[in-house]
Amino acid sequence: MSISRETNNPVLENQREQWSSRMGFVLASIGGAIGLGNVWKFPYVTGRYGGASFLVIYLISLMFIATPILITEFAIGRKTNLNYAGALKKLMPGTKWYLLGIVGVIALVIVLSFYFGIAGWAIAYLFKSLTGSYAGASSQQIVANFGAFMNSPLELFFWQFIMVAITGFIVIRGIKGGIEKVCNVLLPLLFIMIIGLAIKSVTLPGAGAGLEFYLKPNFSALTPEAILAAIGQSFFTLGVGCGNLVIYGSYLDKKKTITSSALMVSLGDTMAALLMGFIIFPAVFAFGVEPTLGPPLVFITLPIIFAKMKFGMVFGTLFYLLLFFACLTSTMCILEAVVGYCVDEWKWNRKKTVIASSILIFVLGMFQMLSFGPWQDVTIFGKTIFDASDFLVNNMILPGGGFIMLVLVGWVWKPKLLLDEINLGEGFKINKYYTYGVKYIGPLALITVFLQLVGIIKF
Ligand code: ALA
Repeated sequence: MSISRETNNPVLENQREQWSSRMGFVLASIGGAIGLGNVWKFPYVTGRYGGASFLVIYLISLMFIATPILITEFAIGRKTNLNYAGALKKLMPGTKWYLLGIVGVIALVIVLSFYFGIAGWAIAYLFKSLTGSYAGASSQQIVANFGAFMNSPLELFFWQFIMVAITGFIVIRGIKGGIEKVCNVLLPLLFIMIIGLAIKSVTLPGAGAGLEFYLKPNFSALTPEAILAAIGQSFFTLGVGCGNLVIYGSYLDKKKTITSSALMVSLGDTMAALLMGFIIFPAVFAFGVEPTLGPPLVFITLPIIFAKMKFGMVFGTLFYLLLFFACLTSTMCILEAVVGYCVDEWKWNRKKTVIASSILIFVLGMFQMLSFGPWQDVTIFGKTIFDASDFLVNNMILPGGGFIMLVLVGWVWKPKLLLDEINLGEGFKINKYYTYGVKYIGPLALITVFLQLVGIIKF
C-alpha cells in the first residue's frame, strides 16, 4: 500500500483500504452509476419530456458538465484519501467549505431513504415474476395489484428491509472483500442481461414506433423544466454533485491517471441507460401502452407487457433481477459514502457505522414508502414526501452542489491544483477539456438553466 505524499501520518494512511485493481475500481464506480437512474428513471423522464430531444440535452450535459464533475470527485478523493467533507477540511483549512460535504452526506441519506424502498419493489416483483403470480393478468388487475402493494406498508417495509440488510452485509466487509468482489461478478451479468433484453424488445412486432419515439427529436418539448431535468438526470445517473464518488476515489492508488477511468464510468453508465431505452420503448409501443406514465412505468407498464408476452415470466424475472443488481451496486456506493464520512470524521468503526446508518435510513425510508400509499395526501409544497425529496435532491442539491464544486475548483483553487492530481500517473492526460468544463461550460450552463427556471431570463 502506498504512502500518499499528502499525509504526515503513515499509520493512518496504511490503514486505509485500496482497490485491488484499477478494473475493480472502474467496475464498482460503473455499478455506483448504473441504478434506478438508468433502469427506472431514465425511461420515464425521457418519455415524459418528449424522447430524443431530451436525450440530446442529457448527453451534452453528461459529457460537458457531469463527467468533469466526476473527474473532480475522484481527484479530490485520491488527493486527500478522505471523504468529501474531510477532504474539503484538509484542502481549505479554517474555512466553512467542508459544509458542502456535510450537505452532500445529508443528500445521500435522503437518496438512500427512497432508494432502498424502490429497490425493495424490484425484489418484490422479482418474486412475483418467479412465482408467475401475474402471468396472464389483465391490465386492470395489474394496476389494482400495484395499488394494493403501495397500500400495504408492512409488505413495503419488509422488502425495503431486505434491501437494507443485503447492502449493509456487503458494505460491512469493506472495499476489497465486499464492494469490489460483488461488483466484479454483478456488472458483467448486468450487461449480459441488458443486452439480451434489448435484443428481445427491438425484435418485437410493432417495436418501430417505440424506436421512432425514442430516437427522433421533438425540440418543442424542451421546456426549461425539461432541460433542468436532463441536467439533473445526468448528475443523478453518474452519482455526482454531492461528493458521492469522492469516497471511491479515496481508495484509489496513484499509479494511473484518473481521466480514462472516469470516461469508462461515463461510457458504461450511458450505454446502460441508452440500452434501457431500447428495452422499454419498443416494448411499450409494441404492446400499445403509454410511455409517459411516470414512476410506475417499470412496475405497472412492464408487468402488463410481461403478462401478455410469451415466456413473459422468464423475461420479467430477468428484468427485475437486472433492476435488483443495478440497485444493489448503487446502494453499496451511496452507503459507502455515508459510512466513509462517519469512519473518517468521527472515527467510528465500520461495523457500528453500517448498522447505525442503515437503521436510520430504514426508518426515514418508511416515511417515503408511506407517501406512495396511505400518506399520498401528505404534501410538502404541494408534492408528496417522495416527490419533494426527489425534487430537492435531483433538481436542487445535485445541480446546486455541482455548481458550487465547479466554482471552488475552477475559480477558487484554479483547475491547475486538481489537474496535477488528475494527470498523476501513467495514461491519458487532459487539460483544456477539463479546464473549460469546470471554469466556464458547467457553471454557465447551470446558472442559465436556473435563471430561466425562476423566470429571470427567457429564451
Ligand atoms: N447513480 C445512481 C443511479 O443512477 C444513484 O441510480
